[in-house]
Amino acid sequence: MLRLAVIGGDGTGPEVVAEGLKVLSAVSKKVGFEFSTKDFNISGDRYLAAGGDPNKQTIPVIHEEEIAQLRTYDAIYLGAVGHPKIAPGILEKGVLLRLRFELDQYINLRPVKLYPGVETPLAGKKPEDIDFIVVRENTEGIYTGMGGVQYKGMPSEVSTQINCTTRFGAERAIRFAFDLCRRRNSKKKMVTLVHKTNVLTFAGSTWFNAFNEIGDKEYKDIKRDYNHVDACCMWFVKNPEFYDVVVTDNLFGDIITDLAAVIQGGLGVAAGGNINPKGVSMYEPMGGSAPKYTGLNVINPMAAIGAVAMLLSETGNNKGDKKLAQAGDMVMKAILATTPKMKSQAAGKMGCGTKETGDLVVSAL
Ligand code: IPM
Ligand code: MN
Repeated sequence: MLRLAVIGGDGTGPEVVAEGLKVLSAVSKKVGFEFSTKDFNISGDRYLAAGGDPNKQTIPVIHEEEIAQLRTYDAIYLGAVGHPKIAPGILEKGVLLRLRFELDQYINLRPVKLYPGVETPLAGKKPEDIDFIVVRENTEGIYTGMGGVQYKGMPSEVSTQINCTTRFGAERAIRFAFDLCRRRNSKKKMVTLVHKTNVLTFAGSTWFNAFNEIGDKEYKDIKRDYNHVDACCMWFVKNPEFYDVVVTDNLFGDIITDLAAVIQGGLGVAAGGNINPKGVSMYEPMGGSAPKYTGLNVINPMAAIGAVAMLLSETGNNKGDKKLAQAGDMVMKAILATTPKMKSQAAGKMGCGTKETGDLVVSAL
């Protein structure tokens, strides 16, 4: 029994999650496994309704008891948390970063795949040219909140934001990337480390040395490559076909995966996973809560359905459950069979509604 915690969240989050669960239900019947879902009402809406201040965090966005409960599930399926009335940072830190840190979801996994029939802004690139995956370290780097501000509001105001890099954190991300590369077994069989070793010489060498030492000792079958992050942005656009698995630190990963999302056709299709291979992972569409589209049946659920495919494949792999892994492959195949039938992947331009898109994937299954 696959036990899922579901956080629909704000705006269009619940709508896309409903389509993902529709597809999950269809594939579970086909493959023959059972699953249960439990809804968690964690959202910006709830925060405001409970009297939270929209300008600074005054009450928890997610409660201790909820975190304790979430720990007991096999995986978390998240729609979107974001509210136009709440100041930036409150929900991001209060939900997303909090869960990443507390559940030690140390990998942010972002497949970058151009589905058939989907438009990419890169001239002349085809689905076979855009098919790689980014492994972003998800609990360290500049995201930890270490640092501070002194003399606030004075002309002498000074702030530091520390890039906390540990050998332990780099190693586990690097090993995940090499293992994933073996698992993908693409013709390239290559992992590219992305950093900025020419300027960030301290953190850069921790990553660079870990990458090469681990690669040499444990993964001789896999080619190694290194890009500076600025050059990587250039190559993602010019030669995406070059990449297989990319591993990088938290902030660099945040930035390059938005660039990667746009080359695979945008937020309508991009899905991500916040993964703790031995713990509770969380899967989500990359897009936000899109408040202006809420309740209109126009948002594209494909990214949320892609998140279900990833949830099944990764949970299957982490728990050694072949049925789940097989179900993940089937959902991915159904997505690939569905995108050519759609007019566009942009909200409101798909040629069908949110629910009908979910139905198309179910019938492809
Ligand atoms: C992402 C998002 C988050 C991040 C924000 C919302 C905190 O951009 O998942 O990539 O920066 O990690
Ligand atoms: Mn981001």
